[in-house]
Amino acid sequence: MQENNFLENKYDVLIIGAGLAGLYAAMNIPKEKNVLVVCKDIPWECNTFYAQGGMVTALNEADIPSHVEDTMAAGSYHNKKEAVEILSQTSLETTKDIIDRGMEFDTDEDGNILYTKEAAHSIERIIHAGGDATGRYMHYFMMVQNKHMLQKNTLVYDLLIDQGRCYGVKATVNYEPTTIYADDVIIASGGIGSLYEYNTNSRTVSADIHGICVEKGIALADMEFMQFHPTVFVDTPYARKLLLTEALRGEGAHVVDEDGRRFLFDYDARGELASRDIVSRGIFDYRRKTGKQAYLDFSMFEAEWFEHRFPNITRTFGTLGYHFPKDRAPISPAFHYANGGIECDTNGAISGMKGLYVIGEAACTGVHGANRLASNSLLEGVVFAKRVVTHLLAKETEEIEIPTFEKDYGNILHKENDEIYKQKLRQVMWDDIGIIRTTQGLLEAKNLIYDMKNHDIGRLLQLRLNTASAIVDAALSRTESLGSHYIES
Ligand code: SIN
Repeated sequence: MQENNFLENKYDVLIIGAGLAGLYAAMNIPKEKNVLVVCKDIPWECNTFYAQGGMVTALNEADIPSHVEDTMAAGSYHNKKEAVEILSQTSLETTKDIIDRGMEFDTDEDGNILYTKEAAHSIERIIHAGGDATGRYMHYFMMVQNKHMLQKNTLVYDLLIDQGRCYGVKATVNYEPTTIYADDVIIASGGIGSLYEYNTNSRTVSADIHGICVEKGIALADMEFMQFHPTVFVDTPYARKLLLTEALRGEGAHVVDEDGRRFLFDYDARGELASRDIVSRGIFDYRRKTGKQAYLDFSMFEAEWFEHRFPNITRTFGTLGYHFPKDRAPISPAFHYANGGIECDTNGAISGMKGLYVIGEAACTGVHGANRLASNSLLEGVVFAKRVVTHLLAKETEEIEIPTFEKDYGNILHKENDEIYKQKLRQVMWDDIGIIRTTQGLLEAKNLIYDMKNHDIGRLLQLRLNTASAIVDAALSRTESLGSHYIES
């Protein structure tokens, strides 16, 4: 086992996060480079691991304009078109690369890749693995492929920034405050899920790095556009709620009320296959108006086929007493994905900042616009990870003199009442900065967040509150509804 003396080493590249984006970036950096990947907990506690549906790939050159258009339409044309074109165009190369390296996506008996459809895609172009365990399979594959050192149990609580340059991070490594220096730091720490009462995210995804960015004056963008997944089983005691993949609807599952009525057609002619923001809002609104429960109905599927196509869902829900496809599942929308994030260009570079990059869900390249198209996130992870590495490897090396960084929050990450405030924050985010917002609700949330910041709280809660403030401020500034930001007058 290699001994790692963080204090004496300076890494060429430090990657914060061991989800798909972080690991694919690591995979693309030559072995000779001194690279460290860190993650907060165990490596598989990340959103990639829980991704079910699949990864989009343009089918061929001819499909690119259609994939671009589907992505832009889902994003209410708020997307940066250049980023969307890069995403789609590069998908051909990255998908091929991953397959050539040995990743096995699901195929038919003749070895042809199977493509599925999800909401708002005009054709079937989503590849999947393990039926409904695409993220888990891809994560495992990339963990095995990664040739660089990975340090788990590393909680980053500060970025070492001086005069527009990042020199590394402060973190607890196995609970010990530690300084890790690096020539280049890539943030791949995911989104903000733990801020919301109901969410589908890994418990490690808690907006810490976004909060540090707010503190350092690094811009976040599109933070009003938080995405809610329409079909989530929320009736569990765990923080992470259980996703029922969009691929279920893509394959033909229906959303019904307790009388079996497919009410989503009241909201959009595409019914269950309208974009995620519309379906989430429809379910939320219908339940609010009628008091009726919404269900995902699988009764049209043949049992053997269902179990083969969705083995993990069948198994997981079986342990909860649901026998799919016979039983229907009660559903609610829940927070799923941050469309916005740390603002960067299409190489992951952060404006005005040297040595600091961002990729994956943590980033905002503008690719998702006001609402991400289903299954574009795994693709985004790999495409922009590859780009940041290409950019880093091409840039000239510079001699770096590390300044002294005195401040250390290592001992005050948590304070006694933090749990109470964290729970209050999760509630207020869900109630007031959720699927349907009002100006008054947002103003109340803003005051509450401000008030919590003025209590005696630990650093990690402070960082969550910084991010929550950025979301509420962005939501207040956008007075008209757009995509996943819906404001009721
Ligand atoms: C799902 O499987 O429904 C989630 C896919 C995604 O978030 O794009």
